[in-house]
Amino acid sequence: MRRVEVIGSATLYQGDAYETLEELGPQDAGVFDPPYEFATSGGGRFRKARPNMDQIAAAGLDKGFDDRICSPAIFRSVAVFCHNDQLPELLPRLAARFYRTVVCAWHKSNALPVANKHYRPDTEFWIHAWLADAHPVGSLTDKARWILSENGRFTGVDHPTVKPEPVMDKVLATINARRVCDPFMGSGSTGVAAIKRGLGFTGVERDPKHFDTACRRIEAAVKASEIPQPREAVR
Ligand SMILES: C[S@@+](CC[C@H](N)C(=O)[O-])C[C@H]1O[C@@H](n2cnc3c(N)ncnc32)[C@H](O)[C@@H]1O
Repeated sequence: MRRVEVIGSATLYQGDAYETLEELGPQDAGVFDPPYEFATSGGGRFRKARPNMDQIAAAGLDKGFDDRICSPAIFRSVAVFCHNDQLPELLPRLAARFYRTVVCAWHKSNALPVANKHYRPDTEFWIHAWLADAHPVGSLTDKARWILSENGRFTGVDHPTVKPEPVMDKVLATINARRVCDPFMGSGSTGVAAIKRGLGFTGVERDPKHFDTACRRIEAAVKASEIPQPREAVR
């Protein structure tokens, strides 16, 4: 039986993303950090020092996803992370479904010092696509198309592709919705950022270990958000 946890304004489902969304029906906004589709081979003599690629391949996180789930029949807007190699196919598909699209970039301040016969792995992309009534919101700063932030591997969270909180907060800053859904929730980074922004959150994750991590992290964020903040002195 599927596990469902309600934690503050978050509802978390342990199960398959496609089946769960079919059951849940329309959502407001979708934030996707799905399995990327890319080659995890190579690395030459540095390969042994880079176990992260082996972990990603072992978890099947290099096989891509069915992007038909990024549908305007379900979501008024979507923010979809992807690998450089997916952009040529994914971008036109989303552009055909939604009113507008933009490619945004996360530049890594601590990217691995490797390149071989390609560019350095210092940039990941997300595509923000929206229907006319779900255009990006936020300040001019929020509407920058890029963020500079560290890789998530130093967050201490046990997930091979954990996204850093500043990156997810940047994504959420422009989302035109009071509730966001992350169908490939992993360790729950989108949920933590959503709770901290006062947004509702729906998350789906099939791996029980990552689901438990997400529950713990989101519970901690909910508890922290309930602690009254000291009021600023009024002069
Ligand atoms: C790229 S990771 C997400 C990482 C997440 N953003 C974080 O910060 O931890 C993708 C996640 O999707 C999960 N996943 C892959 N296919 C799935 C499916 N069909 N249904 C539900 N979860 C799935 C994987 O177990 C993995 O944890």
